[in-house]
Amino acid sequence: MMKPDQAEGLRKLVQQSQTITLAPLSVSGQAKTIAVMSGKGGVGKSNLTLNMALSIASAGKRVLVIDLDFGMGNIDILLGKTSTSSILDVLVRKKSFQAAMTKGTDNLYYISGGSGLEQLFSLDKDQWSFFLEEMERMMRDFDCIFFDMGAGLSKDQLPFVLSAGEVVVVTTPEPTSIMDAYSAIKHLAIHQFEQSVQIIVNRCKTPSEGSETYRKLAGVVTSFLHRKLVFAGAVPDDPAVPKAVAEQIPFYIKQPHSRLSKTIKMLAETLYHQQIREARREQHTFIDKLSSFFRRRKVDS
Ligand SMILES: Nc1ncnc2c1ncn2[C@@H]1O[C@H](COP(=O)(O)OP(=O)(O)OP(=O)(O)O)[C@@H](O)[C@H]1O
Ligand SMILES: [Mg+2]
Repeated sequence: MMKPDQAEGLRKLVQQSQTITLAPLSVSGQAKTIAVMSGKGGVGKSNLTLNMALSIASAGKRVLVIDLDFGMGNIDILLGKTSTSSILDVLVRKKSFQAAMTKGTDNLYYISGGSGLEQLFSLDKDQWSFFLEEMERMMRDFDCIFFDMGAGLSKDQLPFVLSAGEVVVVTTPEPTSIMDAYSAIKHLAIHQFEQSVQIIVNRCKTPSEGSETYRKLAGVVTSFLHRKLVFAGAVPDDPAVPKAVAEQIPFYIKQPHSRLSKTIKMLAETLYHQQIREARREQHTFIDKLSSFFRRRKVDS
């Protein structure tokens, strides 16, 4: 039987060999940050996030997907991969992002969600500053970072959404999904989120269903919340999506030129470039905003 110190040494060795070393980006700046959320669950967030990320990665940008769906995370399953680490390792166990992330495909990396993120709000000062430093490094090492959120918005996910450069709410044309999207946007409004929220209508059965759904949602949001939305676009209901899920090969990899993939590429480019324009006006960075949560946290709780 292996002695405990030998086992520990072996674990360290395995961890070291899995650490990903990233070359500096040729043009290093601040990664664009895109948070994808919804009110109702199962509306397609993870599939849209992953395939949008793949489309940006295939255009030569380095992209990281952070699965913030704690407990139900599935980015690795959609990619047909398994990972032994999660974001909790970075948050709690002081593992670097580079040691905790997994390479998905060329230019695409991901970090899995882990159950128990409620710990975010109970991190001590050292753990939190370690996490922020790591996050800061990721902002330099990547061109774009997507956050795939769980359904609804937990207290621990909120800081990431409120700090992101672009927030996308995904809904389907179902009335229940529209109402849940409204509730999610109301939740953001309560937390003084001032940016425009981007809306993606997924699983549209006709070309007009997307804009009709958006109009309904924008109507209630304008009347009751006095907030503006932006219609990012509509995604068709397509059997290629469940097929890709079953095969564990993202549809953007299998059929990059399909109508579905072209729609995804267009959406991703809109979100990515929109943020480059906005970043010129933006005064506070993602990290500034995220770190302000830790300072306020003690007061709020
Ligand atoms: N455009 C689409 N056409 C057909 N099916 C779709 C489409 N988008 C998503 N789906 C199906 O919907 C299901 C849920 O998708 P997904 O896991 O991406 O949703 P989610 O919002 O991330 O769910 P959760 O809230 O559980 O995280 C999957 O089985 C997927 O096949
Ligand atoms: Mg999901």
